[in-house]
Amino acid sequence: MTILGIESSCDETAVSLLKVMRGKFSLRHHGVSSQIKIHEKTGGVVPEVAARHHVPVLPHMLSRAVGSSRPDCIAVTTGPGLVTSLLVGVETAKTLSYLWDIPLIPINHIEGHIYANWLLCPHIPFPALALVVSGGHTELILMRGHGHYTCIGRTRDDAAGEAFDKIANLLGLPYPGGPSLSNAARTGDANAFAFPRPMLNSQDSDFSFSGLKTAVLYCLRDLSRVQRLTPAVLSDICASVEQAIVDVLVVKTLAAAEKFHVVSIVGCGGVMANRRLRHQLRHAIKKKFPQVPLYVPPMKFCTDNASMIAAAGYFHAKNKNFSSWHVVQANPQWELA
Ligand code: KG4
Ligand code: ZN
Repeated sequence: MTILGIESSCDETAVSLLKVMRGKFSLRHHGVSSQIKIHEKTGGVVPEVAARHHVPVLPHMLSRAVGSSRPDCIAVTTGPGLVTSLLVGVETAKTLSYLWDIPLIPINHIEGHIYANWLLCPHIPFPALALVVSGGHTELILMRGHGHYTCIGRTRDDAAGEAFDKIANLLGLPYPGGPSLSNAARTGDANAFAFPRPMLNSQDSDFSFSGLKTAVLYCLRDLSRVQRLTPAVLSDICASVEQAIVDVLVVKTLAAAEKFHVVSIVGCGGVMANRRLRHQLRHAIKKKFPQVPLYVPPMKFCTDNASMIAAAGYFHAKNKNFSSWHVVQANPQWELA
Protein backbone atom coordinates (compact mmCIF):
# COMPACT_ATOMS: atom_id res chain seq x y z
CA MET A 1 0.00 0.00 0.00
CA THR A 2 1.28 3.48 -0.87
CA ILE A 3 0.07 6.44 1.17
CA LEU A 4 0.46 10.06 0.14
CA GLY A 5 0.76 12.32 3.20
CA ILE A 6 -0.07 16.03 3.06
CA GLU A 7 0.51 18.50 5.91
CA SER A 8 -0.17 22.26 5.85
CA SER A 9 -1.60 23.01 9.30
CA CYS A 10 0.71 25.92 10.12
CA ASP A 11 3.84 27.23 8.40
CA GLU A 12 5.41 24.11 6.88
CA THR A 13 4.21 22.71 3.58
CA ALA A 14 4.97 19.01 3.61
CA VAL A 15 4.39 16.06 1.31
CA SER A 16 5.53 12.46 1.83
CA LEU A 17 5.09 9.15 0.13
CA LEU A 18 5.07 6.09 2.38
CA LYS A 19 5.06 2.53 1.11
CA VAL A 20 4.03 -0.21 3.51
CA MET A 21 4.60 -3.86 2.62
CA ARG A 22 3.75 -6.63 5.08
CA GLY A 23 3.80 -4.08 7.92
CA LYS A 24 7.26 -2.75 6.93
CA PHE A 25 7.54 1.00 6.32
CA SER A 26 9.61 2.37 3.48
CA LEU A 27 9.64 6.13 3.10
CA ARG A 28 9.83 6.91 -0.62
CA HIS A 29 9.68 10.67 -0.32
CA HIS A 30 9.95 13.18 2.54
CA GLY A 31 9.55 16.81 1.47
CA VAL A 32 9.23 19.82 3.79
CA SER A 33 9.19 23.42 2.64
CA SER A 34 9.70 25.78 5.56
CA GLN A 35 8.42 29.35 5.70
CA ILE A 36 10.96 30.43 8.35
CA LYS A 37 12.50 33.07 6.08
CA ILE A 38 9.07 34.63 5.51
CA HIS A 39 7.94 34.70 9.15
CA GLU A 40 11.34 35.87 10.43
CA LYS A 41 10.42 39.38 9.30
CA THR A 42 7.31 39.50 11.51
CA GLY A 43 8.79 37.46 14.37
CA GLY A 44 5.90 34.98 14.17
CA VAL A 45 3.37 33.37 11.86
CA VAL A 46 0.77 35.62 10.25
CA PRO A 47 -1.97 33.08 9.35
CA GLU A 48 -3.06 34.64 6.09
CA VAL A 49 0.55 34.98 4.90
CA ALA A 50 1.28 31.35 5.84
CA ALA A 51 -1.74 30.12 3.88
CA ARG A 52 -0.83 32.12 0.79
CA HIS A 53 2.66 30.64 0.74
CA HIS A 54 1.38 27.05 0.84
CA VAL A 55 -0.49 27.59 -2.44
CA PRO A 56 2.33 27.94 -5.00
CA VAL A 57 4.58 25.41 -3.25
CA LEU A 58 2.24 22.46 -2.80
CA PRO A 59 1.71 21.45 -6.48
CA HIS A 60 5.50 21.26 -7.09
CA MET A 61 6.02 19.25 -3.95
CA LEU A 62 3.25 16.86 -4.95
CA SER A 63 4.64 16.22 -8.41
CA ARG A 64 8.10 15.62 -6.94
CA ALA A 65 6.66 13.12 -4.45
CA VAL A 66 4.30 11.22 -6.69
CA GLY A 67 5.71 11.49 -10.24
CA SER A 68 3.58 9.57 -12.68
CA SER A 69 2.45 6.86 -10.24
CA ARG A 70 -0.77 6.97 -8.26
CA PRO A 71 -0.90 6.28 -4.52
CA ASP A 72 -3.55 4.01 -2.99
CA CYS A 73 -4.87 6.65 -0.57
CA ILE A 74 -4.22 10.14 0.77
CA ALA A 75 -3.72 11.02 4.44
CA VAL A 76 -4.18 14.72 5.07
CA THR A 77 -4.03 16.87 8.21
CA THR A 78 -7.51 18.30 8.74
CA GLY A 79 -6.90 19.82 12.21
CA PRO A 80 -6.03 21.26 14.61
CA GLY A 81 -4.23 24.24 13.12
CA LEU A 82 -4.71 27.54 11.34
CA VAL A 83 -7.86 27.23 9.29
CA THR A 84 -6.54 29.13 6.27
CA SER A 85 -3.41 26.96 6.16
CA LEU A 86 -5.35 23.73 6.72
CA LEU A 87 -7.72 24.55 3.87
CA VAL A 88 -4.90 24.57 1.30
CA GLY A 89 -3.85 20.99 2.11
CA VAL A 90 -7.38 19.72 2.66
CA GLU A 91 -8.83 21.11 -0.56
CA THR A 92 -5.82 19.89 -2.55
CA ALA A 93 -6.18 16.40 -1.06
CA LYS A 94 -9.90 16.36 -1.82
CA THR A 95 -9.27 17.35 -5.44
CA LEU A 96 -6.66 14.62 -5.90
CA SER A 97 -8.90 12.06 -4.23
CA TYR A 98 -11.68 12.93 -6.69
CA LEU A 99 -9.39 12.96 -9.73
CA TRP A 100 -7.59 9.71 -8.90
CA ASP A 101 -10.66 8.09 -7.39
CA ILE A 102 -8.80 7.02 -4.24
CA PRO A 103 -9.94 7.30 -0.59
CA LEU A 104 -9.00 10.04 1.83
CA ILE A 105 -7.96 9.69 5.47
CA PRO A 106 -8.42 12.82 7.62
CA ILE A 107 -5.64 12.91 10.21
CA ASN A 108 -5.45 14.81 13.47
CA HIS A 109 -2.14 16.70 13.53
CA ILE A 110 -1.38 15.57 17.10
CA GLU A 111 -2.06 11.95 16.18
CA GLY A 112 0.40 12.50 13.34
CA HIS A 113 3.06 13.75 15.76
CA ILE A 114 2.54 10.66 17.94
CA TYR A 115 2.82 8.32 14.94
CA ALA A 116 6.17 9.84 13.90
CA ASN A 117 7.46 7.24 16.35
CA TRP A 118 6.01 4.35 14.38
CA LEU A 119 7.93 5.35 11.22
CA LEU A 120 11.06 3.77 12.64
CA CYS A 121 9.61 1.37 15.13
CA PRO A 122 6.40 -0.33 13.99
CA HIS A 123 5.93 -2.47 17.13
CA ILE A 124 5.77 -0.09 20.07
CA PRO A 125 4.06 -1.92 22.96
CA PHE A 126 0.83 -0.71 24.65
CA PRO A 127 -0.21 0.80 26.99
CA ALA A 128 2.02 3.66 25.91
CA LEU A 129 2.31 7.16 27.31
CA ALA A 130 2.74 9.94 24.75
CA LEU A 131 4.35 13.22 25.75
CA VAL A 132 3.20 15.68 23.09
CA VAL A 133 5.19 18.93 23.10
CA SER A 134 4.60 21.24 20.18
CA GLY A 135 4.02 24.92 19.54
CA GLY A 136 0.33 24.73 20.38
CA HIS A 137 0.07 21.61 22.56
CA THR A 138 1.57 20.17 25.72
CA GLU A 139 -0.27 16.99 26.61
CA LEU A 140 0.21 13.61 28.19
CA ILE A 141 -1.87 11.07 26.31
CA LEU A 142 -2.44 7.50 27.35
CA MET A 143 -2.66 5.07 24.42
CA ARG A 144 -4.16 1.67 25.17
CA GLY A 145 -3.90 0.64 21.52
CA HIS A 146 -3.81 2.11 18.04
CA GLY A 147 -6.31 4.95 17.86
CA HIS A 148 -7.28 4.74 21.56
CA TYR A 149 -6.39 8.02 23.23
CA THR A 150 -7.10 9.39 26.71
CA CYS A 151 -5.74 12.79 27.56
CA ILE A 152 -4.53 12.59 31.17
CA GLY A 153 -3.03 16.07 31.36
CA ARG A 154 -2.56 19.22 29.34
CA THR A 155 -1.34 22.76 29.71
CA ARG A 156 -3.70 25.19 31.39
CA ASP A 157 -2.21 28.16 29.51
CA ASP A 158 0.84 28.28 27.23
CA ALA A 159 2.25 25.19 25.53
CA ALA A 160 5.93 24.36 26.08
CA GLY A 161 6.79 25.45 22.52
CA GLU A 162 4.83 28.65 23.02
CA ALA A 163 6.83 29.31 26.20
CA PHE A 164 10.11 28.81 24.30
CA ASP A 165 8.89 31.11 21.52
CA LYS A 166 7.52 33.88 23.73
CA ILE A 167 10.53 33.90 26.08
CA ALA A 168 12.91 33.92 23.09
CA ASN A 169 10.97 36.94 21.85
CA LEU A 170 11.38 38.71 25.21
CA LEU A 171 15.11 38.04 24.99
CA GLY A 172 15.32 39.47 21.47
CA LEU A 173 16.26 36.14 19.90
CA PRO A 174 15.29 35.45 16.27
CA TYR A 175 12.29 33.43 15.08
CA PRO A 176 11.74 30.51 15.51
CA GLY A 177 12.27 30.98 19.23
CA GLY A 178 12.65 27.38 20.41
CA PRO A 179 15.77 26.50 18.42
CA SER A 180 17.23 30.02 18.96
CA LEU A 181 16.82 29.84 22.72
CA SER A 182 18.17 26.32 22.77
CA ASN A 183 21.26 27.35 20.77
CA ALA A 184 21.91 30.31 23.07
CA ALA A 185 21.54 27.96 26.07
CA ARG A 186 24.37 25.67 24.98
CA THR A 187 27.16 27.64 26.68
CA GLY A 188 25.03 28.80 29.62
CA ASP A 189 24.79 27.69 33.24
CA ALA A 190 21.41 26.05 33.84
CA ASN A 191 21.62 26.84 37.57
CA ALA A 192 22.45 30.52 37.18
CA PHE A 193 18.84 31.68 37.58
CA ALA A 194 16.24 30.01 39.79
CA PHE A 195 13.19 30.19 37.55
CA PRO A 196 9.93 28.62 38.77
CA ARG A 197 8.93 25.06 37.85
CA PRO A 198 5.15 25.65 37.61
CA MET A 199 2.91 22.83 38.86
CA LEU A 200 5.90 20.55 39.41
CA ASN A 201 4.38 19.12 42.58
CA SER A 202 0.70 19.28 41.69
CA GLN A 203 -0.89 15.89 42.03
CA ASP A 204 -2.27 15.93 38.48
CA SER A 205 -0.64 15.70 35.05
CA ASP A 206 -1.42 19.26 34.00
CA PHE A 207 1.11 21.90 33.02
CA SER A 208 1.35 25.68 33.15
CA PHE A 209 4.08 27.73 31.50
CA SER A 210 2.78 31.30 31.43
CA GLY A 211 4.22 32.08 34.90
CA LEU A 212 7.69 31.20 33.66
CA LYS A 213 7.37 33.81 30.93
CA THR A 214 6.39 36.43 33.55
CA ALA A 215 9.32 35.38 35.77
CA VAL A 216 11.73 35.95 32.87
CA LEU A 217 10.15 39.35 32.19
CA TYR A 218 10.70 40.44 35.83
CA CYS A 219 14.20 38.99 35.82
CA LEU A 220 15.09 41.07 32.74
CA ARG A 221 13.60 44.19 34.30
CA ASP A 222 15.59 43.71 37.53
CA LEU A 223 18.80 42.87 35.69
CA SER A 224 18.59 45.93 33.47
CA ARG A 225 18.83 48.09 36.61
CA VAL A 226 22.18 46.66 37.63
CA GLN A 227 23.95 45.30 34.57
CA ARG A 228 23.96 44.96 30.79
CA LEU A 229 22.55 41.86 29.19
CA THR A 230 25.87 40.43 27.99
CA PRO A 231 25.97 37.32 25.76
CA ALA A 232 27.15 35.32 28.79
CA VAL A 233 24.20 36.42 30.94
CA LEU A 234 21.83 35.80 28.04
CA SER A 235 23.18 32.23 27.71
CA ASP A 236 22.72 31.69 31.44
CA ILE A 237 19.10 32.89 31.27
CA CYS A 238 18.41 30.65 28.25
CA ALA A 239 19.97 27.59 29.90
CA SER A 240 18.02 28.25 33.12
CA VAL A 241 14.72 28.67 31.23
CA GLU A 242 15.33 25.54 29.20
CA GLN A 243 16.16 23.58 32.35
CA ALA A 244 12.98 24.79 34.10
CA ILE A 245 10.81 23.62 31.17
CA VAL A 246 12.65 20.31 30.86
CA ASP A 247 12.40 19.62 34.61
CA VAL A 248 8.61 20.00 34.56
CA LEU A 249 8.18 17.85 31.43
CA VAL A 250 10.42 15.08 32.77
CA VAL A 251 8.93 14.94 36.28
CA LYS A 252 5.32 14.96 35.01
CA THR A 253 6.02 12.29 32.40
CA LEU A 254 7.63 9.98 34.95
CA ALA A 255 4.79 10.46 37.44
CA ALA A 256 2.16 9.66 34.77
CA ALA A 257 4.13 6.62 33.58
CA GLU A 258 4.11 5.26 37.12
CA LYS A 259 0.45 6.03 37.75
CA PHE A 260 -0.80 4.36 34.56
CA HIS A 261 1.64 1.43 34.52
CA VAL A 262 2.66 2.03 30.92
CA VAL A 263 5.09 -0.30 29.17
CA SER A 264 6.47 2.31 26.78
CA ILE A 265 6.84 6.07 26.49
CA VAL A 266 6.86 8.05 23.25
CA GLY A 267 7.91 11.68 22.90
CA CYS A 268 6.85 13.85 19.99
CA GLY A 269 6.29 17.36 18.64
CA GLY A 270 8.66 20.18 17.76
CA VAL A 271 9.96 20.69 21.31
CA MET A 272 11.06 17.05 21.35
CA ALA A 273 13.84 18.19 18.98
CA ASN A 274 15.35 19.91 22.03
CA ARG A 275 18.60 18.17 22.94
CA ARG A 276 18.39 18.84 26.69
CA LEU A 277 14.88 17.38 26.81
CA ARG A 278 15.81 14.31 24.74
CA HIS A 279 18.88 13.62 26.85
CA GLN A 280 17.36 14.23 30.30
CA LEU A 281 14.10 12.40 29.56
CA ARG A 282 16.04 9.34 28.35
CA HIS A 283 18.34 9.45 31.37
CA ALA A 284 15.49 9.85 33.89
CA ILE A 285 13.42 7.01 32.41
CA LYS A 286 16.43 4.69 32.29
CA LYS A 287 17.09 5.41 35.95
CA LYS A 288 13.54 5.08 37.28
CA PHE A 289 11.98 2.54 34.88
CA PRO A 290 14.87 0.67 33.22
CA GLN A 291 12.40 -1.79 31.69
CA VAL A 292 10.30 0.91 29.97
CA PRO A 293 11.63 1.93 26.54
CA LEU A 294 11.50 5.57 25.42
CA TYR A 295 10.87 6.23 21.74
CA VAL A 296 11.76 9.62 20.31
CA PRO A 297 11.64 10.37 16.57
CA PRO A 298 14.76 11.60 14.75
CA MET A 299 14.82 15.42 14.71
CA LYS A 300 13.38 15.76 11.20
CA PHE A 301 10.26 13.82 12.23
CA CYS A 302 9.75 15.88 15.44
CA THR A 303 8.85 19.16 13.73
CA ASP A 304 5.95 19.35 11.29
CA ASN A 305 6.22 16.91 8.38
CA ALA A 306 3.97 14.72 6.25
CA SER A 307 5.68 11.37 6.88
CA MET A 308 4.12 11.29 10.35
CA ILE A 309 0.71 12.03 8.76
CA ALA A 310 1.18 9.14 6.31
CA ALA A 311 2.24 6.83 9.17
CA ALA A 312 -0.91 7.66 11.15
CA GLY A 313 -2.86 7.22 7.92
CA TYR A 314 -1.54 3.68 7.53
CA PHE A 315 -3.06 2.54 10.83
CA HIS A 316 -6.43 3.98 9.80
CA ALA A 317 -6.14 2.38 6.35
CA LYS A 318 -5.44 -0.99 7.98
CA ASN A 319 -8.86 -0.73 9.64
CA LYS A 320 -10.47 0.50 6.41
CA ASN A 321 -11.12 3.76 8.18
CA PHE A 322 -11.48 5.76 4.96
CA SER A 323 -13.47 8.87 4.07
CA SER A 324 -14.79 10.24 0.85
CA TRP A 325 -13.66 13.61 -0.55
CA HIS A 326 -17.12 15.16 -0.27
CA VAL A 327 -17.37 14.72 3.52
CA VAL A 328 -13.84 15.67 4.59
CA GLN A 329 -13.47 19.16 6.03
CA ALA A 330 -10.84 21.23 7.80
CA ASN A 331 -11.47 21.23 11.54
CA PRO A 332 -9.15 23.81 13.17
CA GLN A 333 -10.27 23.02 16.76
CA TRP A 334 -10.14 19.22 16.52
CA GLU A 335 -9.14 17.73 19.90
CA LEU A 336 -7.61 14.27 19.70
CA ALA A 337 -8.71 13.26 23.20
O1 KG4 B 1 5.34 20.44 16.30
P1 KG4 B 1 5.80 21.74 15.74
O2 KG4 B 1 6.79 21.69 14.61
O3 KG4 B 1 4.59 22.60 15.28
C1 KG4 B 1 3.37 22.60 15.97
O4 KG4 B 1 2.59 21.66 15.76
O5 KG4 B 1 3.22 23.53 16.79
O6 KG4 B 1 6.41 22.54 16.97
C2 KG4 B 1 6.90 23.82 16.83
C3 KG4 B 1 7.42 24.26 18.18
C4 KG4 B 1 7.80 25.73 18.20
O7 KG4 B 1 7.27 26.32 19.35
C5 KG4 B 1 9.31 25.67 18.22
O8 KG4 B 1 9.89 26.80 18.83
C6 KG4 B 1 9.55 24.42 19.02
O9 KG4 B 1 8.59 23.52 18.54
N1 KG4 B 1 10.89 23.86 18.82
C7 KG4 B 1 11.82 23.78 19.80
C8 KG4 B 1 12.99 23.24 19.20
N2 KG4 B 1 12.72 23.01 17.88
C9 KG4 B 1 11.44 23.40 17.67
N3 KG4 B 1 11.76 24.10 21.10
C10 KG4 B 1 12.84 23.91 21.85
N4 KG4 B 1 14.01 23.41 21.35
C11 KG4 B 1 14.12 23.07 20.06
N5 KG4 B 1 15.28 22.58 19.59
ZN1 ZN C 1 3.05 20.16 14.81
